Amino acid sequence: MENDLNPDLEALRITAMDCRKCDLCRHRTHVVFGEGYPFADIMFIGEGPGYHEDMKGRPFVGKAGQLLDKILTVCGFSRNDNAYIANIVKCRPPDNRDPLPVEREACLPYLYKQIEYINPKIIILLGSVALKGIVDPDAKITSLRGSWTEWKGRHLMPVYHPAALLRKQSLKREAWEDFKKVVQKYRELVNPDHYSAHV
Ligand code: URA
Repeated sequence: MENDLNPDLEALRITAMDCRKCDLCRHRTHVVFGEGYPFADIMFIGEGPGYHEDMKGRPFVGKAGQLLDKILTVCGFSRNDNAYIANIVKCRPPDNRDPLPVEREACLPYLYKQIEYINPKIIILLGSVALKGIVDPDAKITSLRGSWTEWKGRHLMPVYHPAALLRKQSLKREAWEDFKKVVQKYRELVNPDHYSAHV
């Protein structure tokens, strides 16, 4: 599966590598386009690259990324086989601040094209910035996490960002309830035999 090629996605990636649409390009080491199975039925969307992601050019490779990978593994998902991971903005905001509206607006067309080309049935928004960027600037992660909505013909659920789970251990129980729903939805929509060690 790793070798499957999605030519539209690849062409978009090459275009994004030279992007100068907002000022974040001036500070970046690498554009962090996203990675995973290019025809994934499930896509995870975070906020934007941090220090480690900027250094490596890959999404979610720092501490929060390690936790995300653990969660994905337990749920039977992985970047290599069946999931795709991307962010609202592709370049690191200085000092890890939230991306500005002008930066989000410049970058979102890339994400929308990624979604179109990958064509996932399920989209999981990781944290408040992803929720506000995609669904509604006034949406609250604490009230919407764990609930499904329809978005452009896809099933969408916001969950806590893994960095929030690292900061506040007490959120982990609710997060686990949310991820159980994700596995159930994947079985319902994609593969009834989907294996997860704990769900
Ligand atoms: N946090 C995010 O939202 N995205 C990353 O790629 C890394 C950390």
